[in-house]
Amino acid sequence: MSETAKLVLGEKTIELPIIKGTEGEHAVDITKLRSQTGYITIDNGYMNTGSCTSDITFLNGEKGILRYRGYKIEDLAEHSNFIETSYLLINGVLPTKRQLDFFNEKIVSFATLPSGITRMLDTFPRDAHPMGVLSAGVAALSAYYPDFLDHDLSDSEKDRAVAQLMAQVKVMMAYFYRRAKSEEPVRSHPSLGYCADFMNMIQYKPGYEVDHEVAKAMNVLLILHADHEQNCSASTVRMVGSSNANVFATISAGIDALWGPLHGGANQAVLEMLETIKKNGGDYKKFIKKAKDKNDSFKLMGFGHRVYKNFDPRANIIKKACDTVLTKLGVQDPLLDIAKGLEEEARSDSYFVERNLYPNVDFYSGIIYRALGIPTNMFTAMFVLGRLPGWLAQWREQVGSPTAKICRPRQIYTGPGVRDYVPVDERK
Ligand code: ACO
Repeated sequence: MSETAKLVLGEKTIELPIIKGTEGEHAVDITKLRSQTGYITIDNGYMNTGSCTSDITFLNGEKGILRYRGYKIEDLAEHSNFIETSYLLINGVLPTKRQLDFFNEKIVSFATLPSGITRMLDTFPRDAHPMGVLSAGVAALSAYYPDFLDHDLSDSEKDRAVAQLMAQVKVMMAYFYRRAKSEEPVRSHPSLGYCADFMNMIQYKPGYEVDHEVAKAMNVLLILHADHEQNCSASTVRMVGSSNANVFATISAGIDALWGPLHGGANQAVLEMLETIKKNGGDYKKFIKKAKDKNDSFKLMGFGHRVYKNFDPRANIIKKACDTVLTKLGVQDPLLDIAKGLEEEARSDSYFVERNLYPNVDFYSGIIYRALGIPTNMFTAMFVLGRLPGWLAQWREQVGSPTAKICRPRQIYTGPGVRDYVPVDERK
């Protein structure tokens, strides 16, 4: 007999089904709670709410485990590349050589933007934040591909949407990056590989060749960012996708959710924080004090995580990669010393220890992006490039599910009771 949980509400006791995940996680299924009892649950910030079941990503915050489709993040970062990992996330298996080539070719076939999109990108101020530009640009793609407005896409149409977005988001970012610097766009050279091609598109000048270490570091960074189960932006993607909104609108919404400094925008905020500390003479202890002060809104950016309460495995890999990349590129960055100092100080401070606050994925990533020559306001857009296959995998899983439902949480109303309407000239 399947396990149930008993809930006592006044005189009434009801049994609620227990759902188990493959890794031994348990959930109480409250789908019928309201129809059976009239009660709902409240969970501010969804601290304890499972919004779906999913086959894509497993993470255990207490043990610092992260796996994509069963594969350890450490193994993927060491042995895979971003395109192979994207295929894995989206299709559930590691591709054969033929499948990988086909996936790559499909992405490559979309490496140009409709001219209307480039004209639109040309109208933005050069100093516009790339996240706003990307969000608008991705939503605007819907105007050029009306076939995708139909929510009932076939599998091959979904494959096309995936490949198209993986290609066009990359090209859009590179196009706007060069425009911001008043430089001519550089066309895509797919034979370089996804990451090296992107670096070439943004940094090309006569004589430029993408350094192997740079392409490798970017592959690792994008793999580490590729999915993270039901975080704020993935949940936004599922929320918007659940209304049968088209894939462009859905991914554009994910970009907006990622932009916030409590989520993906933290990578930019970390760098800005480190710069401020440097300008203040490198006195990071002062900033640790500020972060602990409850009367000060300052937070140690790149620290803390809703789910990881031990360590963020991505941060460990990035920290190592940071040392390796900077050494190999011969870059000496005083911000790395400040970051390490901050981490050391925080890790031995009871405020951070008691609250299980550790460096997250965003703490060291910006220092690598900086070493790769990527400007600070592009960092969160780099996160978009990495997270795109994860969002697309979440979208595909959701729209393909026979049990998919529109996401529509409830609330407990706490406003005024019923009131009589008073005409404007009679109001006091
Ligand atoms: N600096 C100082 N104190 C912090 C920090 C921080 N970075 N993060 C959490 N705390 C404190 C809170 O003030 C709170 O203290 P209290 O118990 O005395 O009230 C306690 O730790 C718990 O924090 P919450 O904010 O309740 O944790 P929550 O899970 O809601 O938030 C979050 C997680 C948003 C990541 C938070 O830690 C934070 O703001 N970190 C800085 C921003 C950041 O780096 N975001 C990127 C996250 S990774 C990603 O999204 C890709």
